[in-house]
Amino acid sequence: MTHVALAITGASGALYAVRTLAALLAHGATVDLVASDYGRRLLRDELGPEAAFDRLPAYLAARYGEAVGRGRMLVHSNKDLGATIASGSQGCQAMVIVPCSMKSLAGIAHGLSRNLIERAADVMLKERRPLIVVPRETPMSLPQLKNLVLCAEAGAVVVPAMPAFYQQPATLDDIADFMAGKVLSVLGIPHTLYPAWTGDVPAAPGAR
Ligand SMILES: Cc1cc2nc3c(=O)[nH]c(=O)nc-3n(C[C@H](O)[C@H](O)[C@H](O)COP(=O)(O)O)c2cc1C
Repeated sequence: MTHVALAITGASGALYAVRTLAALLAHGATVDLVASDYGRRLLRDELGPEAAFDRLPAYLAARYGEAVGRGRMLVHSNKDLGATIASGSQGCQAMVIVPCSMKSLAGIAHGLSRNLIERAADVMLKERRPLIVVPRETPMSLPQLKNLVLCAEAGAVVVPAMPAFYQQPATLDDIADFMAGKVLSVLGIPHTLYPAWTGDVPAAPGAR
């Protein structure tokens, strides 16, 4: 995958968004980037003012290194329903919504296309191109669970923000690496964000 849309919505987990974005850019992908108003807020609230949406290129380079410069970012307004990714005739191969709020999930599940994120997701589904949603909410209501099923039935891949602990993450970055790696794996992009499972659980720190 060399051309991917990435949407950031207002669910907790801004670190997953920036890690996934950095990994795609380091891979050399062209990324159509869009954030909802609450996605923008979560970037600032969870990662600080230096991660504000408009400052992301500098933030990514400082946090993840100059390799992010291999890719290209095309930024869109969520209000712009005339952006390229609102049309099935453009060449975007896949879309990732990370993190995905329950509100955006509902809009996608019901084909509402109220903003660019929902419309671009709808385009992916109608064109039968990969759509990956990374939902985060707990506990979940029945309508939320049903919306996940509707999206899956329409062809989306649901990658819940559910980090594993068998890799023995030591930092929040380890957890974000795991989730970003799961997304890249679904996209078919090779990565080393987490070690492949070998069947052997590493000894816990301090274990005898
Ligand atoms: C600090 C904060 C954390 C939030 N976390 C979540 C969350 O984890 N999951 C969720 O579905 N909504 C969460 N919300 C609520 C959404 O941001 C809200 O429903 C918003 O309208 C979503 O709009 P959007 O999908 O256009 O971004 C959170 C809101 C705030 C302010």
